[in-house]
Amino acid sequence: MEGKIFIAGVMILCVVVGHAQEGYYSEAIPAVHMEEKMTKLHFFLHDILSGQNPAVVQIAKANLPQNNSFASFGTLSATNDAMRVGVEPTSKLIGRAKGLYVLASQGQDDEMALVMYMDFGFTTGKFNGSSFVVCSRNPVMETQRELAVVGGREQFRMARGFANLHTRFLNFTTGDAIIEYNVTLFHY
Ligand SMILES: *[C@@H]1O[C@H](CO)[C@@H](O)[C@H](O)[C@H]1NC(C)=O
Ligand SMILES: *[C@@H]1O[C@H](CO)[C@@H](O)[C@H](O)[C@H]1NC(C)=O
Ligand SMILES: *[C@@H]1O[C@H](CO)[C@@H](O)[C@H](O)[C@H]1NC(C)=O
Ligand SMILES: *[C@@H]1O[C@H](CO)[C@@H](O)[C@H](O)[C@H]1NC(C)=O
Repeated sequence: MEGKIFIAGVMILCVVVGHAQEGYYSEAIPAVHMEEKMTKLHFFLHDILSGQNPAVVQIAKANLPQNNSFASFGTLSATNDAMRVGVEPTSKLIGRAKGLYVLASQGQDDEMALVMYMDFGFTTGKFNGSSFVVCSRNPVMETQRELAVVGGREQFRMARGFANLHTRFLNFTTGDAIIEYNVTLFHY
């Protein structure tokens, strides 16, 4: 009897030590179910490529024969776009949208789309320090379009949702655009 207990004890010890030696994970336990909240956001993204201090810079370009810089397939840009309460460039700054977008259209019969990988972070108000993350196709020529929100940080941790976009200004020469964002977020 005592022998069996001793062997069982040794086995438990081996299992515990084995677990500790791997040491990179916890026991998987049921997650605590939390009440989900919904928040709507409304702001204007100032996507400015022109001027002395552009908020969008091209960082890579495909080696293609065509030369249409604004619409050329494979062009990758870095962004630090202002998020403002209004369409006016002087309206209150509430955050910055930082990340990348890649132009992803080929030719006339393909939709004009870019794909965005961007973190929309707030720098003022209730959600200062929080951000939501977009990873989505954006068919820029459609006047009304929807992006997928796939995550978030801080108060928007685990966020999911969608952003409805409406182009309010677009200069075809420079590529400068001001886009209205109506975002619906589900978060904890
Ligand atoms: C592409 O642009 C460069 C620089 O602006 C110019 O020298 C070249 O002729 C252009 N090529 C075509 C095919 O338009
Ligand atoms: C936003 O948060 C940052 C970091 O905590 C802080 O430094 C800043 O003063 C805050 N801004 C406003 C307007 O609350
Ligand atoms: C677009 O940008 C060009 C170059 O800066 C400028 O000449 C033109 O007036 C702008 N158009 C609009 C509608 O703002
Ligand atoms: C976005 O939301 C604002 C404020 O709620 C509303 O006035 C506006 O009509 C909405 N825009 C679109 C394109 O749905």
